[in-house]
Amino acid sequence: MSMHDRLALYSRNRLKLGLFGANCSSGRAVTKVPERWSGSWDDCLRLARMADEAGIEFMLPVGRWKGYGGDTDYQGETLETVTWAAGLLGATQRLTVFGTVHAPLIHPLIAAKQFVTADHIGQGRFGLNIVCGWNEGEFDMFGATMREHAARYEHAQEWFDAIQLAWSDVDDFDLDGNFIRLRQARAKPKPYGAGRPIVMNAGASPTGQAFAIRNCDALFSMTPKGKLDEFTAHVANVKALARQGGRQIDVYTVGVITCRPMQREAEEYYRHWVIDNADWAAVDRIMAMRGVTREKYPDDFEERRYHQANGMGGIPIVGDPDAVARELAQLAAAGAKGIALSFVNYLDELPFFRNEVMPRLANLGLRETR
Ligand SMILES: Cc1cc2nc3c(=O)[nH]c(=O)nc-3n(C[C@H](O)[C@H](O)[C@H](O)COP(=O)(O)O)c2cc1C
Repeated sequence: MSMHDRLALYSRNRLKLGLFGANCSSGRAVTKVPERWSGSWDDCLRLARMADEAGIEFMLPVGRWKGYGGDTDYQGETLETVTWAAGLLGATQRLTVFGTVHAPLIHPLIAAKQFVTADHIGQGRFGLNIVCGWNEGEFDMFGATMREHAARYEHAQEWFDAIQLAWSDVDDFDLDGNFIRLRQARAKPKPYGAGRPIVMNAGASPTGQAFAIRNCDALFSMTPKGKLDEFTAHVANVKALARQGGRQIDVYTVGVITCRPMQREAEEYYRHWVIDNADWAAVDRIMAMRGVTREKYPDDFEERRYHQANGMGGIPIVGDPDAVARELAQLAAAGAKGIALSFVNYLDELPFFRNEVMPRLANLGLRETR
């Protein structure tokens, strides 16, 4: 087990696959359909075992403290991500499981030790997704103030410096930051074996992306629908900036799968869950929280609403297994190292994806068969 193995997510597959958002009720689908995801521990556990068995490389949870309301209380029930990861790591063999952690809401020495503990449970399969937060209501819950945007990432830098010191071989250390002060801090044990957990971030702003480029192994970026060229340029740019700083970074993306035996069936089901049965009350609240209003975006406000309903902005991939495999291959060709997927109901839909799409990805040279 080496750092290289950790960053490769323990597989040789050219396109890594993950599941995104299963720790939350409704997952990533802002829909009222009754088969929507429960987010319960039992379902997460069954899903993780199924994913592990199928050779899926990772699971990425959403760090969410307060649900969005609406008719379904979208993401109203969420399992805390580091304890969730620890449980799933204990029950799986190959899967990398991330914790998604709000840097401003937890002391770095507590966080570093939690990550090390999860990493030992998973024998080197814990990953860290650093988030700075954007949802003011969540910060209010903690009695915490959400800093202005640039300061959020300045704080995150000090927080991550502290985590890295705690993971390093130094004995006792001090840190004198603007936000964080540590005195003779001691943190043992260190991460499992050689190396440290894979670290990712999903900043979309220049500041957020610069943070990822300076610190992370992976940047998760949304692919703009129908604009693969933009994504290709984005990947090239991020990688070039990392190289200039003497680093390497991979870019992953996010997709929402609706796959059925026939193209028409897939399109009909997509229409059913996104268009006819979206939880529009929740969608509109999320849009308002993000400051996306009809006045601000008169030309494409409706499109943005649909995009929000459909997996919170992940690229919709709708079709029969050939079409889905083809679209995933296009994302890989555009430079995506991997993709974090969601389904309306992960457990119901993963077997068909595993049986029909994954072998096609192998035929396309993107994955080994299992
Ligand atoms: C794949 C992905 C996962 C994310 N996970 C979370 C999360 O779990 N919790 C959260 O508050 N924000 C999450 N975000 C939001 C990002 O961390 C980030 O704040 C957002 O993309 C805006 O970018 P910026 O911070 O550079 O402005 C996620 C974004 C993406 C694309």
